[in-house]
Amino acid sequence: MAEQKATNIHWHEGDITRKERGDLLGHGGATLWFTGLSGSGKSTVAVALEGVLHDMGVLCYRLDGDNVRFGINKNLGFSEDDRAENIRRVGEISKLFVDSGVLVLSSFISPYVRDRDLVRQVHEEAGMDFIEVFVDCSLEAAESRDPKGLYKKARAGEIKNFTGIDDPYEAPSAPEIHLHTDQQTLEDEVAQIIDVLKARGLISAT
Ligand code: ADX
Repeated sequence: MAEQKATNIHWHEGDITRKERGDLLGHGGATLWFTGLSGSGKSTVAVALEGVLHDMGVLCYRLDGDNVRFGINKNLGFSEDDRAENIRRVGEISKLFVDSGVLVLSSFISPYVRDRDLVRQVHEEAGMDFIEVFVDCSLEAAESRDPKGLYKKARAGEIKNFTGIDDPYEAPSAPEIHLHTDQQTLEDEVAQIIDVLKARGLISAT
């Protein structure tokens, strides 16, 4: 848990509410949190979902592990502490986007239950939807895909602390959405998520 360092700070409330921003956009904001092994398909599903939602008039924004590590999280590596700080920061960024009215698609391995639960907690405390999507895929399937050639390097000992090889992945026990990307089609996965967004009233059911 990050320490609160600054003192003598005061929250400054604005005049426009989250509800008013939501009314302007015509849909709800929420965080869809994709968690799973490297190569499980998190980013692939998020990109496909973003396309469908965009065509439906839903304002989305993707946050992606590899991408944010080029920018705001460029000073973080893959130790347990750095992964925790990575997830804490992107969790807070997701929350800011939700407050702005956007549907956020956050794709991070986020291997530790504790880190994901903290993100869930900050959303729920703010009255925001946090929808955990377990992008489930066997290690064998992810490793055979190896889209970035990283499993090969990890097996050869060229990358240390690689999730699934010599670093842990703690699967969610009760995700809101459970995909099996080594058994389902991409279309099917996107449809499964859209159904949940409709059922929650975040997007129009028609
Ligand atoms: S997380 O564990 O902190 O959530 P994140 O999703 O941001 O990870 O980044 C994972 C991506 O970084 C992987 O998809 C892969 O491309 C790359 N990567 C590089 N080194 C590692 C490593 N040791 N473990 C996992 N992913 C790594």
